[in-house]
Amino acid sequence: MSTTSGTDAVRRHDPAVRGFASDNYAGVHPEILAAIALANGGHQIAYGEDQYTEHLQSVFQRHFGEQAEAYPVFNGTGANVVALQSLLPRWGAVIAAESAHINVDECGAPEKIAGIKLLTVPTPDGKLTPELIDQQAWGWGDEHRAQPLAVSITQSTELGTLYTVEEVRAICEHAHERGMLVHMDGSRLANAAASLDRPFREFTTDAGVDVLSFGGTKNGLLFGEVVVVLDPEKVRNIKFLRKMSMQLASKMRFASVQFEALLSGDLWLRNAGHANAMAKRLEAAVQRIDGVTVVRPVQANAVFAVLPREVSERLQKRYRFYFWNEHTGEVRWMSAFDTTEADIDAFAAAIAEEMGR
Ligand SMILES: Cc1ncc(COP(=O)(O)O)c(C=O)c1O
Repeated sequence: MSTTSGTDAVRRHDPAVRGFASDNYAGVHPEILAAIALANGGHQIAYGEDQYTEHLQSVFQRHFGEQAEAYPVFNGTGANVVALQSLLPRWGAVIAAESAHINVDECGAPEKIAGIKLLTVPTPDGKLTPELIDQQAWGWGDEHRAQPLAVSITQSTELGTLYTVEEVRAICEHAHERGMLVHMDGSRLANAAASLDRPFREFTTDAGVDVLSFGGTKNGLLFGEVVVVLDPEKVRNIKFLRKMSMQLASKMRFASVQFEALLSGDLWLRNAGHANAMAKRLEAAVQRIDGVTVVRPVQANAVFAVLPREVSERLQKRYRFYFWNEHTGEVRWMSAFDTTEADIDAFAAAIAEEMGR
């Protein structure tokens, strides 16, 4: 254990240890840490009137169009709660995949904090389609039913899959024709853009998405996500909703400067492209191991696999990862911007070793 110079804090972890549980387990990219240091010192107006947040508007406009508005928040759950509220009146409901983070991993925050009814649909691959949306898109005008006035999709999905540009466009058209607005949970939007090899705006603004939760944390930031208003005609009053939802950072310059560092050049693409490539490397390696089945398409930075439960349990003593489905024994392995080829090769070797025991 070493003491970092200039601080009384002691390094209490081994930075060589990596796992496959979540891209959130990774640390902060050094270029992001450097940007935070750059923004330090002196005084700046608090609550978003600083020079970094002002500049951030043009950074997001370059990626999402001249009309885009960027509102930094603390985390992804907060971004979703703020964004969804902006789309709905008190009686509104949002249609989402059953596997959506807003449904399964936010402790009911959209319901409890925002008071929003979620209307969920089971999907085979984490993706909604116009047909699946129609399972819940009915009952407008009926005061007994929460009114379906928004659709939320996740890109890339919680199951590591991707919507194509055409699929997003078809969903937006379908939703808009029925008077519903569209939210995209882009907690891993950079992974999606890297994998699709398309500019962000092609499968967001240009495809008809109205409001976006743009993720940073999973792509190398210390913290922070951004609610991006893509259609300011339809999405209003985010600044009030953000404060009401406890997502207004007083020292916002430190969130904003991280996104400037991520998005001004190609750091976002380097980080996401690398994480995706590491998932592909893991997929290829485990496909060579008898008894391990990759059960979902690997389109971003997640690999879902089925293998004997006792093997997974032994492996978990060596590496962190989660069971995705306790019932079927399906596990999820995630890569991050800092996962190395050596990490993947060592993990694959460990899987092969445990399978052979
Ligand atoms: C699809 C998705 N949305 C949103 C989030 C954001 O969550 P948090 O509130 O932990 O930042 C996550 C995090 O795992 C996620 O996977």
